[in-house]
Amino acid sequence: MRILVWGLGYVGTVSAGCLADLGNEVIGVEPHHPKVKAINHGLCAIKEPGLQELVRATVESSHFRATTDGLNLIPQSDISLICVGTPNGANGRPRLDAIENVSRDIGRGLRHISHYHVVVIRSTVFPGTSRHLVRSILEEQSGKKAGEDFGLVMNPEFLREGSAVNDFHTPSYTIIGELDKHSGELVDRLYQKINAPLKHVTLEEAELLKITNNAFHALKVGFGNEIGRLCDHLRIDSHRLMELVCEDSKLNISPAYLRPGFAFGGSCLPKDLRFITYNARRLGIEVPILDAILYSNDLQVTLARLKLQEIGFKNVGVLGLSFKPGTDDLRESPIIRLIQDLWQDGFNVLVYDPDVNPTEMLGSNLAYLSRQLPQINDILCDSFEQMLTQCEVVVISQKRPGVLEAIQKFGQRLVILDLVRMTDHPERLMFKEYRGMSW
Ligand SMILES: NC(=O)c1ccc[n+]([C@@H]2O[C@H](COP(=O)([O-])OP(=O)(O)OC[C@H]3O[C@@H](n4cnc5c(N)ncnc54)[C@H](O)[C@@H]3O)[C@@H](O)[C@H]2O)c1
Repeated sequence: MRILVWGLGYVGTVSAGCLADLGNEVIGVEPHHPKVKAINHGLCAIKEPGLQELVRATVESSHFRATTDGLNLIPQSDISLICVGTPNGANGRPRLDAIENVSRDIGRGLRHISHYHVVVIRSTVFPGTSRHLVRSILEEQSGKKAGEDFGLVMNPEFLREGSAVNDFHTPSYTIIGELDKHSGELVDRLYQKINAPLKHVTLEEAELLKITNNAFHALKVGFGNEIGRLCDHLRIDSHRLMELVCEDSKLNISPAYLRPGFAFGGSCLPKDLRFITYNARRLGIEVPILDAILYSNDLQVTLARLKLQEIGFKNVGVLGLSFKPGTDDLRESPIIRLIQDLWQDGFNVLVYDPDVNPTEMLGSNLAYLSRQLPQINDILCDSFEQMLTQCEVVVISQKRPGVLEAIQKFGQRLVILDLVRMTDHPERLMFKEYRGMSW
């Protein structure tokens, strides 16, 4: 394929060199003269294992060259990869001037061509940037329509500096965020020789995935370091400890606990977090990430309360009282706090939880329930159907089989506040639905 790579920094040079090495005809477009000169002499200004050799070989074989003027090359090329920088401005705001400038150049270049050229954003941008900013500049400058006259794709780069060439050839996956199917299929061809799954997603999903992955990496580093600080004070070997943490691929290094949903609760997570944060304070160690977790968790409950206020119906039925199905352990169940908040707001609340029966409960669990919800016997329903007959809004706080079918069978128009993403196919449901916590 004939590829223009706009911006010959880390991402652009690695992408250009690797794509040229795969047999494509690549031209790098870069306003910085010395970089262009260096590339055309087979040299690259970036220190990256294997890249210098790659650049020299691909320049020598005429698969790769650089220029300061890309606009006139668009008629002879199939794809433009935008790899310009998106640094932070003074208050953390992304500076998009390079993206805007390059989009203007490409847009002007698209004006006089008749073939379908695909514009691919490799730079890291916030969701909406590709669809709104880049697309509108391209359409305005070209007088053409994205998805019809030219393609638009967001294809984030996941390379790590220091192993970038290797990462290009062995990614975990290739993400193709596409405005339209045709654009995505053309970009697939770039990666035919890369042995990794191609994932087709929306432009916004691709944009957010890149940032989410990096935020997750940063969170892991920060978390590891906070545990490390604690270990130092307690004279525990932090690496030995974290090796054991990482060895648990069932609950720790796994998809477990990573699906957005309702707040966590139960007798262990909140309590043990407080163990750490209290003792860290006592030892004079700062653990701001760990400190923030319970605050963030409380916000999930507050958001559910605000959502119910916004929905406005006063008769609320809650499915699930304990923090997860299959247990009657109610300690620190976040749904109990939600019910208390709703009472304060004047809601009428009913509850159904097949695992909770106060007549069978004993000890601290019963004491907790009686203290937190003294009216439990008045609000607990014998069946889900009984609860449905008396409410206008159903709050689903536990994933239980048959729940949606029961609501559908019930036939009445009910608003669902789905806190646990039961409703995966909203188009099949006949009632208005609020999904998860993502309002
Ligand atoms: N560096 C990384 O490891 C990495 C990894 C993944 C994603 N990213 C993202 O990729 C993007 C590029 O990062 P980078 O580190 O390669 O940036 P960089 O600053 O090293 O390179 C950007 C290049 O774009 C050039 N440029 C500026 N305006 C231009 C224009 N109008 N036309 C053509 N070229 C222009 C600059 O002169 C520079 O050479 C950023 O959004 C970054 O967040 C970076």
